[in-house]
Amino acid sequence: MSTSQKSRAGSVVILAAGHGKRMKSAKPKVLHPVCGRPLIAWVLDQALALEPERIVVVIGHGGAEVEKAVRELGHGDRVRFVRQEPQLGTGHALQVCLPELGANPGVTVVLYGDMPCLRPETLLALVATQAESAANGMAILTAMPAEPRGFGRILRNEKDAVIGIVEDRDASAEQKLIDEVNLGVYAFDGQGLVAALPKLSNKNAQGEYYLTDVLAAFVAERRAVEAVLLEDEDEGLGVNTLAHLAEARWALQLRILETHLENGVYIEDPASTYIDHGVEIGAGTRILPCTVIRAGAKVGRDCEVGPFAQLRVGAVLEDGAEIGNFVEVKNTRVGSHAKAKHLAYLGDGEIGARSNIGAGTIFANYDGVKKHKTKLGERVFVGSGSVIVAPNTIGDGATTGAGAIVTRDSNVGAGEVWVGVPAKKLAGKSASSARSATGAGESSPGARKSLPGDGKSQPGAVPSQPGAGPSLPGAGPFQPGAGPSQPGAGPSDPGAGPSLPRSAPFQPGSEPSQPGAGPSDPGAAPSQPRAGPSLPRSAPSQPGSAPSQPGAGPSLPGAAPSLPGAGQSETERRS
Ligand code: UD1
Ligand code: CA
Repeated sequence: MSTSQKSRAGSVVILAAGHGKRMKSAKPKVLHPVCGRPLIAWVLDQALALEPERIVVVIGHGGAEVEKAVRELGHGDRVRFVRQEPQLGTGHALQVCLPELGANPGVTVVLYGDMPCLRPETLLALVATQAESAANGMAILTAMPAEPRGFGRILRNEKDAVIGIVEDRDASAEQKLIDEVNLGVYAFDGQGLVAALPKLSNKNAQGEYYLTDVLAAFVAERRAVEAVLLEDEDEGLGVNTLAHLAEARWALQLRILETHLENGVYIEDPASTYIDHGVEIGAGTRILPCTVIRAGAKVGRDCEVGPFAQLRVGAVLEDGAEIGNFVEVKNTRVGSHAKAKHLAYLGDGEIGARSNIGAGTIFANYDGVKKHKTKLGERVFVGSGSVIVAPNTIGDGATTGAGAIVTRDSNVGAGEVWVGVPAKKLAGKSASSARSATGAGESSPGARKSLPGDGKSQPGAVPSQPGAGPSLPGAGPFQPGAGPSQPGAGPSDPGAGPSLPRSAPFQPGSEPSQPGAGPSDPGAAPSQPRAGPSLPRSAPSQPGSAPSQPGAGPSLPGAAPSLPGAGQSETERRS
């Protein structure tokens, strides 16, 4: 057997049937997003790293929703679903998988759908340990958290061999002092597991079928039981509350940021930078503070993003493009060396190379019913405060004057200059002479000498109130970014929420009250940063900063309560 075969699992079972009541959310727990994807997607990646023949997901609460979301991840028939109804414990969850597992499932790894931070290397080590164990044994992942309360405790004999697990609620006062705990992640010899499962009893404090009792069965059969102690505690984070979700988000965010830093992406302030899973960023790009880059965005080489910028799904920055403060880009390709440096919404568009988007520009993509496209050619100059109502095209080298409202289907030709409200073509002016006349060639928005749209240059251009007149189709209902169908836009998106202080260590679900862990625990001091990742523990590590409400914060970076010196935030005021 080769080494790589050795570190493979035959089967992986992901337990995801639990309720997740402490999340206080109607959404199934494992579907809460972390860094742009649901918790369970992270766990599926863990499973896939083991290259198993089959992955079985145990579903229960919100099962249909979970199944749909997992199927959308596109792993095909390799992933199967088993319904556990009712949920009678972790051992019962494995019992209901027996028909799927068959008589010999091979080495079987159990993962939890709410543990997104485990690294593939850790699981490969667990499987390798099982493979090396004597007598078709098992390996169990353990940890020594600062607060072992709530976890099952590892029982060892005088020779230090693992002989059992006792659940917190079944433990004696003496056993509760044991600081090595069970994380619930195992690699079992498949036949041993299949033989032990039907024999489990539920005679315990919770009346549940405990998977942990399989370990006792292995010991009784003199199969080896090996423990693998987790080194990086963050990997053992189990998400049972929104506070845990925020903690897991930060652990995963650090890894994403570290990868970009290693790839040559300059990130000035990791603590205020949000980059989702799967975002590609080219080397030489500079990410400035308080920037949010969502899943589905892509950034080329030598770009600059931020400070205070948001790139959403479908935002594509070609090499050398620059997106500055308070600019939101969604489903828009920004051409090479094109710039939008201040205060803009660029939705559903295409911007040609070297175009310059003035401060305050809006692509009015939404007419209240549908989204439409805005296409700009190369070297287009969009004057400050322009609103371009989609659908629309603007040809190469064209200019819009400051404050222009370019109504839908205006289709500005190459080199033309359009000004006013509604914008009209300025006769007899080339783009270059118009720029020098209007100051449009200046890069600073304040440098304009005259405002097109003041009426002088356009006889007959009457309406002075942009957006008010019926002559502006599409300008009324336009709501950039407000469309309900836009992913990631909602203020309730917890993936964008504030990062919490590193409060209490991770806790299993059974313990309802955990000192210091709850988001509603005012004044709880952030705990010591853990060993491991070398990046700063985000802004909340400021001494004395009150924990904020996870999930409650708006997704815009300017409102993040974790920013140093940001002053009073929405969330602080609410709490
Ligand atoms: C379990 C372990 C405990 C360990 C802890 C780590 C048992 C008996 N105890 O605790 O030793 O320290 O995990 O977190 O296994 N689930 C189902 N179906 C069920 C019950 C649970 O799918 O019937 C899933 C849950 O969704 C969750 C996972 O299994 O993802 C763990 O369940 P939970 O109730 O949190 O664990 P405990 O049994 O308290
Ligand atoms: Ca738990």
